[in-house]
Amino acid sequence: MQVKICRDYEEVSRAAADIFEKELKKKPNCVLGLATGTTPLGLYKNLIKAYKKEKVSFKDVTVFNLDEYVGLEKAHPQSYAYFMRKNLFDFIDINLERTFIPDGSAENLEAACGEYSDLLSKNPRDLQLLGIGGNGHIAFNEPFSPFDGKTRLVTLTEKTINDNARLFNSENEVPKRALTMGISEIFAAKKIVLLACGKEKAPAVYNSTVLPVLPDCPASVLQRHKDCIFILDELAASML
Ligand code: PGA
Repeated sequence: MQVKICRDYEEVSRAAADIFEKELKKKPNCVLGLATGTTPLGLYKNLIKAYKKEKVSFKDVTVFNLDEYVGLEKAHPQSYAYFMRKNLFDFIDINLERTFIPDGSAENLEAACGEYSDLLSKNPRDLQLLGIGGNGHIAFNEPFSPFDGKTRLVTLTEKTINDNARLFNSENEVPKRALTMGISEIFAAKKIVLLACGKEKAPAVYNSTVLPVLPDCPASVLQRHKDCIFILDELAASML
């Protein structure tokens, strides 16, 4: 695992965009694993700019997103499907038929997870983007999630519900369950880029990079990946 420390959020977003732009140029039909949350917004802005300047194209790219809340329709403004359209897909030349996200509003959630897992195994990711939760989660793989887990239905921890409440009108509106890509499927990506900014991420960054690999910090398993980089701002790196 490599750790890169940047001065601030801008620099983190630039460093991440450089890696994505390089991949898009090297392999125009690459398969990307993308993430939602506040952290990747700067990266997505940079990728939109690169597309507008005709430095990159997404027309042959396939995207798999990490997770989705249960019970929110794709058009719900807090759904991750909506987030991806409003923050990236609506501004680039991606074929929406090649963008995938677990179906949190499916009638049969178990079947939806199985279908997503099948798709993932047929479409290995070239480059996977991750954020990290304040509790060390990756996607919605909360502490003590199985390292060999696949896409599945999970119950969110109080900490995650609290952290995400800022994006809803009230904490009560935050869905309590989600579908998430499993740790083994995240780990299967050829290259992984994890972004973390802000002092509230410092303990999770410390636990996942300095302490041994332990199930109470899911991101720590990334120490075992052969091509993984953590890109941090100075605050997120402050305990290293
Ligand atoms: P954030 O979320 O980017 O909004 O901090 C990251 C995560 O919980 O994985």
